[in-house]
Amino acid sequence: ASGAWEQRAGLAAAAPMGEKRVLCVGLVCLDIISVVERYPAEDSDTRCLSQRWQRGGNASNTCTVLALLGAPCAFMGSLAPGHAADFVREDFQRYEVDLAHVVPRPACALPTSMVISNSTTGTRTILHAASNLPDVTAADFEQVNLSQYKWIHWEGRNASEQVKMIQRVEAYNRTCPPSDRVTTSVEVEKTRPEIYQLFGYGDVVFVSKDVAKARGFYSAAEAVKGLRRYLKPGATLVCAWAEEGADAMGPDGVLVHSDAFSPEVVVDTLGAGDTFNAAVILALSRGRPLAEAITYGCQVAGRKCGVHGYDGIV
Ligand code: ADP
Ligand code: FRU
Repeated sequence: ASGAWEQRAGLAAAAPMGEKRVLCVGLVCLDIISVVERYPAEDSDTRCLSQRWQRGGNASNTCTVLALLGAPCAFMGSLAPGHAADFVREDFQRYEVDLAHVVPRPACALPTSMVISNSTTGTRTILHAASNLPDVTAADFEQVNLSQYKWIHWEGRNASEQVKMIQRVEAYNRTCPPSDRVTTSVEVEKTRPEIYQLFGYGDVVFVSKDVAKARGFYSAAEAVKGLRRYLKPGATLVCAWAEEGADAMGPDGVLVHSDAFSPEVVVDTLGAGDTFNAAVILALSRGRPLAEAITYGCQVAGRKCGVHGYDGIV
């Protein structure tokens, strides 16, 4: 059921007539999730409470949540052939995520994560096998008709190529009236220095607590204040911090904060960050102020932590 805040804000409702789509560029993989009551000891033999396949990958999860919240969206990423790939493709279709920009890679395998999901604490321990799947390139991105999108989000991966994609959008925006421009966002989540160049691109930058900690910050507020100088002028920095909620700062330099909205029982935090990003993108793309957008992000991400998977968030 929708909360009062969402009803007021008119979010999580049907998309306004003729609303352009959100495109998310990044990874789709298979998550094989083993739900356990207790985290296993090394070299032990545990019976799981349950086990399931789930479509994963940050950009892919963000699409799932956008779709559940009623925002038309598209996924762009590489896809290998095989049973697992058929599973993720069908799952995307079930959520009506547009796959027109998926790049087939016939000679590759789909990346897979083994996930130990502790239902007592909600922690998710991920073992990711990246496989030989190359990311989409700036040349692939040339095929995207930018006029179809109001927002394009990049999960930071092959950053040098992603910078070229963002520059193409910036060049396009210079030819458009403000109402037709495409807003850009990037996620700097992994602590790989190559990805840090993305701080300088994107109208909205999502930085993870892992990256913030690696850069010497111990709260979302400190991270937002300290990392803001790496952004392009006029950009917004957002940092989520698990149970502490999230902080953000827009071009006006005002720090805004939202507490987390903890569910009664935290059962599954896999993809909480991807969920938060989707809700913030949706709120900002519909013109909501930054403080409301991160509050909405924390509300939807909090609900996600209280359920297994994503379907229970709306
Ligand atoms: P991830 O580790 O999945 O990238 P975070 O841990 O930073 O993401 O969480 C993103 C958002 O999800 C937080 O801002 C918060 O709103 C929500 N969240 C995450 N963990 C919890 C939790 N244990 N309780 C309540 N909310 C949470
Ligand atoms: C969650 C997630 C999983 C995936 C892993 C990849 O944020 O996208 O779905 O297995 O991270 O790093």
